[in-house]
Amino acid sequence: MTSVLHLQAPAKLNLYLRILGRRPDGYHELETLFERIDLADELAFAPQPHGITLTCDEPSLECGPENLIVKAASVLQRTCGITQGAAIHVRKRVPIAGGLGGGSSDAATTLIGLNRLWNLQMPPDRLHQLAAELGSDVPFFLQPEAFAIGRGRGELCEPLIGALPELWQVLVAPPVPLSTKSVYEGFDRSHRTGEDLTEPGVSISMCLHALRNGPDLSGLATGLRNDLQPEAIRRCPVIEEIGDSLRRHGCVGVLLSGSGPSVFGLCADEAHAQQVADRIRATGSSSWKVLVVKTMSHGHQ
Ligand code: C5P
Repeated sequence: MTSVLHLQAPAKLNLYLRILGRRPDGYHELETLFERIDLADELAFAPQPHGITLTCDEPSLECGPENLIVKAASVLQRTCGITQGAAIHVRKRVPIAGGLGGGSSDAATTLIGLNRLWNLQMPPDRLHQLAAELGSDVPFFLQPEAFAIGRGRGELCEPLIGALPELWQVLVAPPVPLSTKSVYEGFDRSHRTGEDLTEPGVSISMCLHALRNGPDLSGLATGLRNDLQPEAIRRCPVIEEIGDSLRRHGCVGVLLSGSGPSVFGLCADEAHAQQVADRIRATGSSSWKVLVVKTMSHGHQ
């Protein structure tokens, strides 16, 4: 395909994810802290007269109408009443169903890419609205800041403005996809209806304070929280093994990202992260994907 536009679709980690309650629409009210990282899918867009064609270098990716890239393209076509088409190719780098927002980021990047390719000039607030309809995490990937607080379903994003540090992390993804929906359903089953879901524990302000102070890595480690972690471990016990391994090999703080199963460990700098990653590659399961990642400060715009 002769592509005319190439964009990166970066992944995210959740440094904090607190469940505040169940909502009448079946979703959960959240307070979360997103971090964009430099692990990214690569999307190429080319115009075609009609229809949306999606191809991928990863054969296990479903490229039909259920794919969020195709949904994002179709919703843009419908909203703008256009018949122009596009051929989209994705080089998949972000583990699928890993809790890293890969599909959501692909969707956001498709909105940005086709808005440009088709010269639609959709204003940011309209793109944000479409993004929120596509998925709870999609709006985060539209905004240029590397860190943002997500509220509501996660779609109400408040970017963290100002100078913020780049974090170095080791990311370990076992080869077991976990469905976000099933992890939330399991969370519900282990909590009685009407029960107060707000577990006591650290508040998001601890993470924010630690981020703005250097970062203060031990403060950040203390502030890490993910209320979905116990349920994800129940479904996928290897998460616990990975967490132990990251801790044993020197990570300062360790947490499940999103609904998992990917786990990350905080490191002091690049050399420290490389050292931890090498040790885990040497001692852990060869089926684990072990990556050194850092905060992606610049957006894809
Ligand atoms: O919004 P998204 O389609 O990414 O969500 C996937 C699933 O995760 C939802 O169908 C829902 O079951 C669950 N979810 C939730 N509360 C949220 C976000 C997601 O229950 N805030």
